[in-house]
Amino acid sequence: MTDITFDPSRLVDDPYPTYARLRDEAPLTWHDTTGLWLVARHHDVDRLLRDRRLGRVFVPYEPRERFAPWNLLNEHSLLELEPPEHTRLRRLAARPFTPRRIAGLRGRIVELTDELLDRVDPTGFDLMTEFAELLPVEVIAELLGVPRELRGPLRPWSNRIVALYELDHDDRTAQAAIDAAAEFTAMLDELIAWRRDAPGDDLLSALVHADVDGDALSRDELVATAALLLNAGHEASVNVIGNGVVALLERRARLAELRDAADADAMADAVEELIRFDSPLSLFQRTVFEPVEVVGRVLEPGERVGLLLGSANRDEEAFDRADTLKLRRSPNPHVGFGAGIHYCLGAPLARLEIAVALERLLARSDVIELVDAPTRRASFQFRGYRRVPVRMVAA
Ligand code: HEM
Repeated sequence: MTDITFDPSRLVDDPYPTYARLRDEAPLTWHDTTGLWLVARHHDVDRLLRDRRLGRVFVPYEPRERFAPWNLLNEHSLLELEPPEHTRLRRLAARPFTPRRIAGLRGRIVELTDELLDRVDPTGFDLMTEFAELLPVEVIAELLGVPRELRGPLRPWSNRIVALYELDHDDRTAQAAIDAAAEFTAMLDELIAWRRDAPGDDLLSALVHADVDGDALSRDELVATAALLLNAGHEASVNVIGNGVVALLERRARLAELRDAADADAMADAVEELIRFDSPLSLFQRTVFEPVEVVGRVLEPGERVGLLLGSANRDEEAFDRADTLKLRRSPNPHVGFGAGIHYCLGAPLARLEIAVALERLLARSDVIELVDAPTRRASFQFRGYRRVPVRMVAA
């Protein structure tokens, strides 16, 4: 038993002291409101992500009729599936995400980044709404071949759909998620029909026409896979850009270090460290399939765990001076991208777009600084900022 209160809505500003206490005093703790065993230490989180005695079990929301649009997107999502379904879908979806293809996107991502930065007023702008929230959406929409004029609602739809992943949500949030899922699916059905007849050089066309040993994606699988890629393609990257820039602006010496380093290795290390330091995704769930021991307790089939990625990434047992931002940290075994069979499919793309975003912000400014205190989004699961007011003095 522990007297540590785990109330997600009160962990929005600074969850780290609570995480530290959990790791110390209650590394496995029962959370009554959600029916989850919370797991706080890096060793356990990393191990359980890889352990096949646990896995994802999608529990459709009830009543089924009301939640049908939301359930459709999730019950065929590879994020929610286990082998053999997961293996099959992941193979089909992973094809276009080869490191070579992703590396080939660099030039285009630089162009998109510069287009966005050309539009801001450097003497004062909101980094989130005018830059960080736009770049990853543009990148993933372009990769999937969503025409420009249809991109506007992508982020609001996604925000509403994933709001059901929060540990606490109300009926209004649920209805907004259902409506967004229905509208998103209608748009995707149209796009899929178009790409069936007129394939382009984009990822959606590749998925529509994917054929691995005579196997293809069904309509439901196509819609769910496209929705997953489009949503996962920006939800976390947006917040890493925001969290990362704020972490640097609040530590001028680290910002200067990154400016001076200016080589690809230093930037790659910095991106990993920024993901570790203020992780954009706080918790992922698994269900126990076979008895498994965690911190001296045997969890039985059917019990569920909540793996606290943000806590694992600040564990002193795994990271020297875990609460310090060390841009050249190596090794850096953070679990920000997960681990095991669900390891983030988009990690190479995320790394690239975050690196380009930081590179271009630095290259285009002699000075970049906060002009007001940044404000957090009211979300535990998706840790990020709502507003980050900055100004830049052009280079
Ligand atoms: C910094 C940005 C990102 C972070 C921190 C992140 C993190 C994660 C994590 C932790 C998981 C595993 C969830 C679990 O184990 O249950 C995951 C899965 C996934 N991510 Fe990302 N992600 C990022 C960006 C992206 C991007 C840009 C894409 C683009 C397509 C993407 C696509 C996916 C997909 C498809 C999965 C499901 C993989 C599977 O279940 O096999 N992610 N991501």
